[in-house]
Amino acid sequence: MNATKPSDGIAWITGASSGIGLAVAQAHLAAGWRVAVTARREAELQAFAAQHPGQVIVAVADVTDVEAVRSAVAKITAEGKIARAILNTGTYERDTAETFEAARLQRQVALNLIGTAQCLEAVMPAMIERRRGQIGLVASLAGLAGLPGSVSYSTTKAGMIAMAESLKFDLDRHGVAISAICPGFVKTPLTAKNTFPMPFLMEADAAAQAIMRGLARNQFLIAFPEGLARPLRILRSLPYAAFFPLVARGTKGD
Ligand SMILES: NC(=O)c1ccc[n+]([C@@H]2O[C@H](COP(=O)([O-])OP(=O)(O)OC[C@H]3O[C@@H](n4cnc5c(N)ncnc54)[C@H](OP(=O)(O)O)[C@@H]3O)[C@@H](O)[C@H]2O)c1
Repeated sequence: MNATKPSDGIAWITGASSGIGLAVAQAHLAAGWRVAVTARREAELQAFAAQHPGQVIVAVADVTDVEAVRSAVAKITAEGKIARAILNTGTYERDTAETFEAARLQRQVALNLIGTAQCLEAVMPAMIERRRGQIGLVASLAGLAGLPGSVSYSTTKAGMIAMAESLKFDLDRHGVAISAICPGFVKTPLTAKNTFPMPFLMEADAAAQAIMRGLARNQFLIAFPEGLARPLRILRSLPYAAFFPLVARGTKGD
């Protein structure tokens, strides 16, 4: 199965009003794609579109609202086929055993998991029917393992990775590509509020380039930066008796 290319249609990027999504939208434009951008803040999306006349479709939606997602996708598909969908909306709210609240988990499930699922539901059938398309779910390295300070977030991101894995078995038969995108720490409005150390913190543009490379190779797992992704994958493969103390020491309980 080949990666999609600009001549296949539109690249739809959700969560494109800031951070990784905005950088991914810019990278797609630079690579010659026509881009559709979704988020709640219309002014930010319109300002981006104004910088690239005729190349950007603005489709405002709160992805937790299923009707708004359907309308956004209808607006985009009236302009052309969605060949690539980068489902990137998400949030992180720190929590620990001491601060754990089901309501916090529920908020993150609603956006990170159900919001993504509603976008998938809106975009996947046409790709299956056409036997062509590429989907990227923006999860996180924190989805590869339950990490300290990340009870709810790791839960949602692990769910997204499992969702991508499970879908891949079926989508392979239909000629549709899917990737689980797992960034480490990226400098965005989301991480600006973090007070703990963020090793290998990278710029959003560098994250977008890593995502573009992974998608062009049709990699299933696009995990970066290597300096964080590789040790985490090794730690994950160890017995829990080694995994827990090593991660606790490496993060100093952060
Ligand atoms: N930054 C990191 O270190 C990092 C690491 C790993 C994974 N990630 C993941 O990368 C993704 C992007 O994060 P980011 O760091 O770029 O954060 P960000 O700058 O806060 O971007 C989040 C985007 O999601 C949109 N969004 C939030 N709630 C929404 C809703 N209900 N409906 C529609 N859009 C919504 C926001 O736009 P509006 O407010 O305009 O709606 C914004 O465009 C997230 O899934 C995050 O979990 C980030």
